[in-house]
Formats: sequence, C-alpha cells, structure tokens
Amino acid sequence: MRSDTARDWSQQDARLTRLGWRDRVLLAPMSGVTDRPFRDHIRSLGQGQVVTEMIASEAAIREIKDSRKLNQAIDDEPGIIVQLAGTEPALIAEAARMMEARGAHTIDLNFGCPARKVVHKASGSAVMRDEALCGAIFDAVRAAIEVPLTVKMRLGWDDDSFNAPKLAALAERAGLDGITVHGRTRCQFYKGQADWRRVGAVVEATTLPVLVNGDICSREDADRALAQSGAAGVMIGRGAQDRPWLIDQTVDHLAGRRPRKAPDAATRSAQLCALIDRMLSYHGTAHGLRQVRKHVSSALLGIDKAAAYRKAANTTDDPAQMIAVIHAFFIEAGAVEGDGITAPDTPALTIAA
Ligand SMILES: Cc1cc2nc3c(=O)[nH]c(=O)nc-3n(C[C@H](O)[C@H](O)[C@H](O)COP(=O)(O)O)c2cc1C
Repeated sequence: MRSDTARDWSQQDARLTRLGWRDRVLLAPMSGVTDRPFRDHIRSLGQGQVVTEMIASEAAIREIKDSRKLNQAIDDEPGIIVQLAGTEPALIAEAARMMEARGAHTIDLNFGCPARKVVHKASGSAVMRDEALCGAIFDAVRAAIEVPLTVKMRLGWDDDSFNAPKLAALAERAGLDGITVHGRTRCQFYKGQADWRRVGAVVEATTLPVLVNGDICSREDADRALAQSGAAGVMIGRGAQDRPWLIDQTVDHLAGRRPRKAPDAATRSAQLCALIDRMLSYHGTAHGLRQVRKHVSSALLGIDKAAAYRKAANTTDDPAQMIAVIHAFFIEAGAVEGDGITAPDTPALTIAA
C-alpha cells in the first residue's frame, strides 16, 4: 500500500490539474441533495468542487433534444462535473457528448448507485458485475468526448466480488482520467463502515488519481482515509450536507493552511436562509419548500429543543414562518454556544411565484 501520499500527490500534479482536483476535496453527488441551488450554495461558501446528481442518460438525451428544462441545468456552472448513469454504451456516450456541448467540464460515470430501482435496470452498481460492459462503456464514452472522463464506483457488488481494482486498471487502459471509490460494496448499501484500506488496493492497481469516499465527516477522518488508502484526495457527501463548511475546512487542512473556523450561529442562520432563498427561487415555492426541508433538518442540530424546532420549521407551508422558526432556533443555539446573538443577520427572502 502506498503510504507517502504527499509523493503521490506531486507525481499526479498534471492529471489533477486537468481534472480540477487540485484542492483534493470534492462534494459527493447526492440525488435529491446536490441539485443546482445546493451546488450554487456550496460554491458561494468557498472553493469546493461539485458534481451534479446522477442523471439517467436516456433522460438527459430526451430533455436536451426536446429543449425542455433539463432537470439538472448546468448552464453557467464553470468546472461542473456531470454524472451520468446508464447501461447502454451508445446512449451514455450520446448523453456525454451532449453534456460536453452544454459546457460540462468533466463527465463522471455512475457505477455505484445501489438503489433497487436503478440496479434492476442494470444501471448504477449493477454495471460493475459485467466487466465487459464496463469496458464497452469506457470505450464508447471516451471516444465520444474530449473533456476529462472519470468513474465513481464501489468496492464491488459484494464481498465475493471485490473487482474495483480490476476495473480501475481497465479504466486506465481505456483512457479515463480519474476514479472515485466509495469504500463499501453494493450489498452493504450504507451499512457498516467504509473500508478505506480496501480503497488502497484500487490505488495500487492504477496510476490514475483516486478519490477515497465514505464516512469522511471531519478533517481527522480525511487524514485517516488518505493515510489508509494512499488516495490523491477525498470526496465528502453526507458530512458536507450537515456542515457545508466542512468542504472548505478540509481544503484548507489538506493544503497545510489553518482551517477556517466553523461559522457562528448568526452566520449559519444567514447561510441557511440564503439556501432557502435559492431553493425557492429555483424550484418555486411549493416544491422548493419540500426540497429544502432535508437541509433544514441537517442544520437545526445541537440543542435540546432541536427536534421541536425541526418539526415546527418543516411542517409549515409558509416560507416566512419557516424563516421565523429558523431565526428563533439560531438565537437559542447562539446563546448555548456563547455567541449571544439576538437578531441573526438574515437576508430577505425572494419568494418565487
Ligand atoms: C441521499 C444520497 C443520494 C446519493 N446519490 C448519489 C448519486 O446520485 N450518485 C452517486 O454516485 N452517489 C450517490 N450517493 C452516494 C454518495 O455520493 C457517497 O458515495 C456516499 O454517500 C458515501 O459518502 P459519505 O459517507 O461521505 O456520504 C448518494 C448518497 C446519498 C446519501
């Protein structure tokens, strides 16, 4: 196993620059979470690089051809990584070509989604079970686009089919540019602990840059995951949904800088309200409110009455009432944390029609 991650990092400099992975920290794609307003929110906070939610290749082609609003609009998103799922090489290649034409910086292939409705269509992590199909997808998409091409996978389907290292070598031969490995098998779904050491076997199998993913919720986790895997960088999902500033703190930490402080209660309040504003502006009030509830739940944590606040914020259909509850929560949280705030600095909402 490679232990000198600093050496690996400098050796892979040019490749990481091409990928835009120089910060060594990416926000993980999460369906229903990393939509356009959340991605804009993360970018507004700092420098983290972001990936779209998984987009089914057929849907991408249909929506672009029909000029309907693409569910995952990527216009004016410099550096955006578009993640495509599918099982038919020619269709994925066509979707990738169209996304490249729309301005995608990188195409990422989804070989990791464990959801039954996805694997039943032989997509997501089911693709890993058919290595010839993996090769055909790599070849077809590589031939279709000029921009960087990466793949995000799991360790394998189950413990008896740990084939991520073999697929990593195949990806390299096919001319891909990078790999992310979530340190679980498909059959684990999200149970147990991500196994960062087994991600190290993937790092050993390829000279491509590898991101280690799974259960990285702090800077210390990032250090351990990198030390155990020898990977070039980390991808963070759920930890960054709960605490979006973790991305920037980890970027600072891995660059050897003093990490920015976690925001105080007043700042967290303002940030959450800004996210609500983005969500409602983008999705419209009714859908935006439904979409933002998971973020409100993630943000209202840490005091005794947090559950009651979450319930009050997430059972109203009135954005102003949601904001009022959030204000009250952060005033109380600020008092507990010693900030002593009385009026969080919160931007006015622009409520969409
Ligand atoms: C709600 C949710 C949605 C997800 N959607 C996707 C997706 O669209 N594409 C993908 O490659 N992984 C998806 N994942 C997996 C994450 O990208 C990541 O691999 C996983 O959550 C482990 O990382 P974490 O422990 O840092 O969250 C999703 C995970 C969650 C929790």
